[in-house]
Amino acid sequence: MQHSTGILVVGQVARDLVLGIEGMPEGGGSAEVRERREMLGGKGANQAVGLIQLGASVRMLGVVGDDETDSFVLEQARADGIDVEHVIRRGTTALLLDIVEADGTRRLFEDVPESALLTADDIRAHESAFDGVDTVILQLQQPTDALLAAAELARDRGIRLVLDGAIEGPERDRLLGLADVLRADATEASILTGVELGSRDDAKRAAIELLAKGPSLVAVAVPGQGDLVVWDGGEVFTPLGDEEVVDPTGAGDAFVAGLVTGLRAGHGQQHSAELAHAAAGATVTRLGGRPDLTGLR
Ligand SMILES: Nc1ncnc2c1ncn2[C@@H]1O[C@H](COP(=O)(O)OP(=O)(O)O)[C@@H](O)[C@H]1O
Ligand SMILES: [Mg+2]
Repeated sequence: MQHSTGILVVGQVARDLVLGIEGMPEGGGSAEVRERREMLGGKGANQAVGLIQLGASVRMLGVVGDDETDSFVLEQARADGIDVEHVIRRGTTALLLDIVEADGTRRLFEDVPESALLTADDIRAHESAFDGVDTVILQLQQPTDALLAAAELARDRGIRLVLDGAIEGPERDRLLGLADVLRADATEASILTGVELGSRDDAKRAAIELLAKGPSLVAVAVPGQGDLVVWDGGEVFTPLGDEEVVDPTGAGDAFVAGLVTGLRAGHGQQHSAELAHAAAGATVTRLGGRPDLTGLR
């Protein structure tokens, strides 16, 4: 039994299969797999694992399958210290196949069954998951009505709301209006704002536009350059580190874990952005999306 829970992560729990190969074969050809990893994955679980490694208590609200084979995922989550009391069992667990070439090029194949997505009813049925948490992280790859239900619960309870990703459609601004923090990669930031992010200036423009919609802090990636964190009264740009990129998967999730850890500790925006950057940098050196942030504690 956990007595105090700090963070609720609402989002994806998946089975992750990572294959490292020299290079992609031609159609009809085959390639030898040099490295294979099967593990707990999905953006939600990866963020939860990163947050725990950085010292937080984390509860998850997500879905895993109800098969015997799906229990592996839940067991792994439990072993990682995630409070899984509100992880729903039904259908088949989402499967993510991450194929990574020796030069770091990755291809992600996502099988996310309908049943693996959260519904607004799921959120309402698990309202008690919001008890005792100070921060809710919502991954926006879930259905909009579920996102709104979770965001409104967080707002009603005065819980800090962190959004990761992008949504399209008429409810976008309503959701952004409920958020305290938003993190988006370059593609997600363009979906949210219509601004093509090629430069740091573009990122600044997108971030300012997003800040005006509600969040008090916005982090956006500038492709190939780094990350820009902007808040009312300040900004910090962290250029990409020079670590060898083995696999970029999950670096954004680690970034969120670092950012949230810093903000919760009251370390200020600048320091939080630097911790986020360090967490992302530590994750690109690893195969698969699972972080190892223990060295950053
Ligand atoms: N060498 C690096 N050092 C620090 N941050 C990095 C490095 N390489 C990539 N990043 C950051 O990692 C993040 C990847 O984000 P994203 O595409 O959302 O990943 P995912 O969704 O797979 O977690 C970006 O914010 C990017 O700037
Ligand atoms: Mg991302």
